[in-house]
Amino acid sequence: TPSFERSTGGELTIDGHTVSDLVDEFGTPGYIWSEDTFRSRAREYRQAFEEAFGDHGAEVSVYYAGKSFLCAAVVRWAQEEGLNLDTASGGELGLGLAAGMPGQRIALHGNNKSETEIRRALENGVGRIVADSVPELVQIDRIARDMDTTAPVMIRITPGVHAETHDFIATAHEDQKFGLSLADGTAALAEADVDPALRSETAVSSSDSVAMLAALVAEALGGIDLRGFHCHIGSQIFEADGFALAAERLLAFIAEVTGRIEREIPELDLGGGYGIGYIPGDAPRPARDIAKDLADSVAKSCSALGLRIPHLSIEPGRALSGPAGTTLYTVGTIKDVAIDAESGRTQVRRYVAVDGGMSDNARPVLYDADYSVVLANREPLGEQVLSRVVGKHCESGDILVRYCYLPADLRSGDILAVAATGAYCWSLSSNYNYLPRPGVVATSSGQTPRTIVRGETEDDLFARDAAL
Ligand code: LLP
Repeated sequence: TPSFERSTGGELTIDGHTVSDLVDEFGTPGYIWSEDTFRSRAREYRQAFEEAFGDHGAEVSVYYAGKSFLCAAVVRWAQEEGLNLDTASGGELGLGLAAGMPGQRIALHGNNKSETEIRRALENGVGRIVADSVPELVQIDRIARDMDTTAPVMIRITPGVHAETHDFIATAHEDQKFGLSLADGTAALAEADVDPALRSETAVSSSDSVAMLAALVAEALGGIDLRGFHCHIGSQIFEADGFALAAERLLAFIAEVTGRIEREIPELDLGGGYGIGYIPGDAPRPARDIAKDLADSVAKSCSALGLRIPHLSIEPGRALSGPAGTTLYTVGTIKDVAIDAESGRTQVRRYVAVDGGMSDNARPVLYDADYSVVLANREPLGEQVLSRVVGKHCESGDILVRYCYLPADLRSGDILAVAATGAYCWSLSSNYNYLPRPGVVATSSGQTPRTIVRGETEDDLFARDAAL
């Protein structure tokens, strides 16, 4: 559950800075981003996994998933904390490189990478490209050979694990766009994508899985250095069992591939997905426990399969960035609405409108996501009333917090803080209704708060209109 410190005057503080100081200097709406929280979460995950896998003699790399929140400052913090960077597009890759992350420490993902993106990744010597289809393997091989290099490649697998999470963000179901299936007979689906000469060289059979076809093709292609396999089973997951089950399936597959290609597969990447607390009742497990369970289970599978434990990578995004962010809003209109006037027993819901909304946090609208909100500029004393925090967009679904208790004496001008908005809020933000995207201010205890991403102005938005 997200928690805040308060000053003696009852004001909420972030890394020791009072909300009124932050709002006076930077205004609202705004994302406040705690460098301290991000760094300590990054350290916690890295240490937990390094120790747990280290106990079994295996090495770990932590790739921060930049899609959750990416800017130059966060890239530098990640780098300083010994993390690598997971990027999902040429833009994320470009930002990571521009901020100084060495190409070797960057992974490029994507289910539909362009020729330019692949070329750019290879030109900058990325540590790995995570390939998502058989035609993509053929394409990477062609580009790499054309550039007189070999591409380090991981192949993304769908292990068929249904992580307990919101349906829209579960990415390991079989019926979705990512990854290659482990199911027997699926090789037939992609056989036509492979040149017949190459196909006969790989000794692939139509009873194989498409994942096996991809592995054999990658191994046969001179421009590809097949490093290992990847999966990502979903997001905002609390249960460790899903990760362990996915690992078990991938390791069994790795054992099979090892037998077919007669060499060791050095790497396994289990993706991200570690859940965080948004509301009371959310109970994420400590990184140490997650890592220990996973390491024990991977070690057990490997010993049963006669494999050396591969180099393990994980790609946490939300778990590192989510708790670091807080969005500050100013309360505007407060409206009490009769919600069942016809029943005779009129119930009232208080609608509290703030100066942002679905453009700075699309997650409630997109995923029914829940958030916690508190009165931030003074102690929330006295009677609390059931309220709904909504944005200022021209859309009735523009809800930020569906149910919450806020003080009965809440008034226009008060400041509200929505917790745990560091992941997938700024990165999913929009300019709906021509609202400029808010800026991001970094805090760290004992340091002056500073802008790390400037907020947009109306001029920024108008500047792109070619007819103005
Ligand atoms: N690795 C891969 C290959 C991914 O696809 C993702 C997220 C991650 C790592 C990081 O996952 P995390 O640790 O942050 O859960 N917009 C949605 C989440 C989409 C996640 C997409 N992939 C949301 O706001 O809940």
